[in-house]
Amino acid sequence: MRIAVLFGGRSGEHEVSRKSAASIIANLGDAYAVTEVLIGRDGQWHVDQVPVTFAKALDVLGAQDVVFPALHGPYGEDGTVQAMLEWLGVPYVGNGVLASAAGMDKAVTKTLLAADGLRVAGGVTLRAGEHLTGDDQERLGLPVFVKPARAGSSLGVSRVADWWQLPEALTAAWMFDEKVVIEPAVIGREVDVAVLEYPDGRVVAGPPLEILVSGAGFFDYDAKYAGGARFQIPADLHPTTTEVLQDRAIRAFNALGCRGLIRVDFFLPDDARDGSPGGEPVVNEVNTFPGFTSASQYPQIWQRAGIDYPELLDILIAGAVR
Ligand code: DAL
Ligand code: MG
Repeated sequence: MRIAVLFGGRSGEHEVSRKSAASIIANLGDAYAVTEVLIGRDGQWHVDQVPVTFAKALDVLGAQDVVFPALHGPYGEDGTVQAMLEWLGVPYVGNGVLASAAGMDKAVTKTLLAADGLRVAGGVTLRAGEHLTGDDQERLGLPVFVKPARAGSSLGVSRVADWWQLPEALTAAWMFDEKVVIEPAVIGREVDVAVLEYPDGRVVAGPPLEILVSGAGFFDYDAKYAGGARFQIPADLHPTTTEVLQDRAIRAFNALGCRGLIRVDFFLPDDARDGSPGGEPVVNEVNTFPGFTSASQYPQIWQRAGIDYPELLDILIAGAVR
């Protein structure tokens, strides 16, 4: 099968995408003839390391049996590339245009999930030039997290423990997006759930993964990629809590109209430790194309569930070409 792995891209997660793609390429079995399609940070396209025009890149992509978009962040995980692949009429792995666009935007994700009855951290959306009102501050309380609405890997995210830190946090977030969300910090454990769709349409959730961040920090870019965190799979949870998390993750998959995969990142507020009533998990965010290095959460979760990386790729690809 001819497959193009599409990676790099213009977003701040360019490097992460390169790492995801390197793992994908290393784990694609002999059944695949792989073409590497790289989008440079500057938007220059490359096919098997040779710079090409956009028109040439489209010809190459359109001639594949399937395309594997391994892009994170805007211009890749947000529906833009998926729309291009729709135009080309080539099957592609993972989420379509709507789920990708909705899942990339933290404000839109919250609205859609809340409308479906899922619990999300309420927040305030600010555009460049807008300010929090005193009422907003009172309602949110401290600490808050300030995040670009459309970015990934915690780029541009700050924790604000005192309101005097807010302007600096907003400036950092606005570097990535003119739309910023401010959310009350949820005090509790951080747990990710991977959802996988089989080619026959069965949708399953994997064992919850707990993120254990060393020190007092949060799971920021450095913790994600410089070894500041450990994963525990399965997380040490009451069986009821595991069931609830898996159910909510699958509901999020359906609410966003996903295909193939999603990773749903939750906070378990402290009252949910034993699965007690009232401990409804809070959806923090979703990733329609989660980190895919062999050390990333999504492949690690499936590995723990008995699906090794090459088999995971086979399932996702079979789902795309069915
Ligand atoms: N956005 C990064 C890649 C993740 O969530 O894994
Ligand atoms: Mg996340």
